[in-house]
Amino acid sequence: MAPTNPIPLVDLKAAHAEVADEVAAGFERVLATTGFVGGPEVAAFEEEYARFCGVRHCVGVANGTDALELALRAADVGWGRRNARGEADDEVVLPANTFIATAEAVARTGARPVLVDCEPGSQLIDVQAALAAVGPRTTAVVPVHLYGQHAAVEELTAKLAGTTVRVIEDAAQCQGATRLGRTAGADGLAATSFYPGKNLGAYGDGGAVLTDDADLAATVRALANHGGLSKYSHDLVGFNSRLDALQAVVLRAKLRRLPEWNATRRTAAERYGELLAGLEGITLPTTEPGNEHVWHLYVIRLESFGGDRERRDALVAKLNAEGIGAGVHYPTALHRTPAFAYLGYEPGAFPNAEDAASRIVSLPLHPHITAAQQERVAEALATALG
Ligand SMILES: Cc1ncc(COP(=O)(O)O)c(C=O)c1O
Repeated sequence: MAPTNPIPLVDLKAAHAEVADEVAAGFERVLATTGFVGGPEVAAFEEEYARFCGVRHCVGVANGTDALELALRAADVGWGRRNARGEADDEVVLPANTFIATAEAVARTGARPVLVDCEPGSQLIDVQAALAAVGPRTTAVVPVHLYGQHAAVEELTAKLAGTTVRVIEDAAQCQGATRLGRTAGADGLAATSFYPGKNLGAYGDGGAVLTDDADLAATVRALANHGGLSKYSHDLVGFNSRLDALQAVVLRAKLRRLPEWNATRRTAAERYGELLAGLEGITLPTTEPGNEHVWHLYVIRLESFGGDRERRDALVAKLNAEGIGAGVHYPTALHRTPAFAYLGYEPGAFPNAEDAASRIVSLPLHPHITAAQQERVAEALATALG
């Protein structure tokens, strides 16, 4: 029997209910003009999101994976650097614990992903390990702002200043977050995703590249539009990766709520902190100093199971059976996936990432979760932990 009153990991229905009227009116505007790709809604969203982020340029694209690839390519990663046989021979440093898209985007440029471990607590990229992995072939480092808070980008940019190595931020999970008052992309280059479950989510796929650099923004825009800024001009070999007008309507409506929704996520995270404080055998997530966290995911670590993946999976299944949309982000470190086995890393190469993958559990957290729902999650977790 299906559980009654399920508590989803994210509640897209509740979010839609808030914006339904604006979305319907916006869809009517688009349908009246039938300008479905690009157009005034996309331009307005790009301007509004750039302003929200405090960056000069936002280029809307088809999804977050493309956004990362386009940012990398605009920065001459992969294609931009070839060996005598015409192959890309550069390397890009990224964390072993991220959604697979970060590494896919790198691999798709032709560059070789070079993985590094994460910090054991925050699970953000180990900046010292990233710097140590930079070698003569490195063209970029991609810190991932995991779960809603920034990695220490300022350390990377300071140490890499004056070199040809670019810092390109994976900002898919941190819309509205800041570190030391700075948003992703300001004075740099960042890519984000508007996948429906993100803090700012579309009704389908979407993504954007963010930067203060007008030349980089123009290159991304051209690459995403068959290599040209105007119809039938093809200055580069590009591809088709554009944001469509209906998604822009949704994103504009949701962007107006994002500050309030992020604040509600913060309140919900604090409430979990109180509800779960007395529970033995788990470690709660924390906010790193200098960060304004937007709690894309609320990820706890199960310590009492000693990294026993099967027991963790059984606990998640038990919560799911009770209608609690717990999940694992992400169950497999990148070097343990068949897709990236070609990189040749041994099991145990990134102990913190592998350890986290076997201990983490994401609890439902979204702007519309109620205190009563969170209490039910806390009770169910306590029971499941025994
Ligand atoms: C960290 C991270 N990077 C990249 C992506 C890729 O975004 P998309 O699914 O829009 O391609 C996502 C989201 O799915 C993500 O969470």
